[in-house]
Amino acid sequence: MYSIRTMATTDYDAVLALMHSTPGISLRDADSREATERYLARNPGLSFVAEAEGRVIACVMCGHDGRRGYLQHAMVLPDYRRQGIAQALVECCLAALEQLGIHKCHLDVFKTNTSAARYWQGQGWKLRTDIDRYSFTREGNENA
Ligand SMILES: CC(C)(COP(=O)(O)OP(=O)(O)OC[C@H]1O[C@@H](n2cnc3c(N)ncnc32)[C@H](O)[C@@H]1OP(=O)(O)O)[C@@H](O)C(=O)NCCC(=O)NCCS
Repeated sequence: MYSIRTMATTDYDAVLALMHSTPGISLRDADSREATERYLARNPGLSFVAEAEGRVIACVMCGHDGRRGYLQHAMVLPDYRRQGIAQALVECCLAALEQLGIHKCHLDVFKTNTSAARYWQGQGWKLRTDIDRYSFTREGNENA
C-alpha cells in the first residue's frame, strides 16, 4: 500500500534521489534545493509525493502561471510502477489546479522518452504538433 501527501521542502533529498535513479528525468540548476523551495512556496499544495514502506517512492511536481498548469518530474520507482500511483498523483495535481480555476495543464517530454510519451497519450494527454517550444538561456547559465 502507498499513501499520498503534499510535497514539502523536507522531501527535497528524497525527490532528488528519485531523480538520480530515474532515466528520462533531467537534472538542472532549477532543481537545486533553493529553487525547489522557491517553487513549492510559489505553488503551495500543488506537488505531491507517494510513500510506501516508510520512504518516498514517487512524486509529481506541479506549478502554474495563473492561467495554465505545468507538470514536472512525474516519477515512480520501478518496483512500484503500474499500480496507478502516477495516475493518482497527477489527479491530485489536476484537482488542485481546478480548485484554483485552472483547467488546462501542460508538460514537457523529451522526444527520446518514448515510454513516457506512450504513458501520457494513454492517459488522454494530447501531443501538441501545432507548437514549438523556444527557450532562451542567459549566457553563462547553460544548465539553468
Ligand atoms: C511514467 C510513469 C510516471 C508512470 O508511472 P506508473 O505509476 O507506473 O503509472 P500508472 O500505474 O499510474 O499507470 C496508469 C495507466 O497507464 C499505464 N501505463 C503505465 N506506464 C505506461 C507506459 N510506460 N506506457 C503506456 N502505458 C503505461 C498503466 O498500465 C495504467 O493503465 P491502466 O489504468 O489501464 O491499468 C513511470 O513509468 C515513470 O516513473 N517513468 C520514468 C520517469 C518518466 O519518464 N517520467 C515522465 C517524465 S515526462
